[in-house]
Amino acid sequence: MTNQNLEAVDDLPKLAEQAARNSYSPYSKFRVGAALRLSNGEIVTGTNVENVSYGLTICAERAALVRAVSQFGPEIRIAAVAVANLNGMPSPPCGACRQVLAEFILPDAPVAFPTKEGTRTMAFSELFPLGFEMNLK
Ligand code: THU
Repeated sequence: MTNQNLEAVDDLPKLAEQAARNSYSPYSKFRVGAALRLSNGEIVTGTNVENVSYGLTICAERAALVRAVSQFGPEIRIAAVAVANLNGMPSPPCGACRQVLAEFILPDAPVAFPTKEGTRTMAFSELFPLGFEMNLK
């Protein structure tokens, strides 16, 4: 990854951690935050919002993405992502969130997330190499 791409993550982990403080997670007690840097220069954050039916839970990454489109419209592109949690655990974006991020993210965008060894940053295309696409004729 180029330095320029790595710099795009910059202050996002800290903002993701701040967003996690708003987590609504009474069932799992796992408090997650996500921060997105958009190519228009804006930063948008999100947190996980759980539901008593469990399956309707919204992850922090998807909460942030939906908020970004709602605020800035469907032309947004995601230039960098950071995920953080307040539980001191590894938390790479889940598979569902990777597929949803794929819709709006630049392939080279760095994605930073907590691992056992500390924060790891990798290009989105490496994290999610073979997403579903639909190109109907
Ligand atoms: N969660 C996220 O917010 N992002 C992820 O990438 C993985 C999981 C949330 C969903 C649920 O509220 C809690 O973490 C435990 O799975």
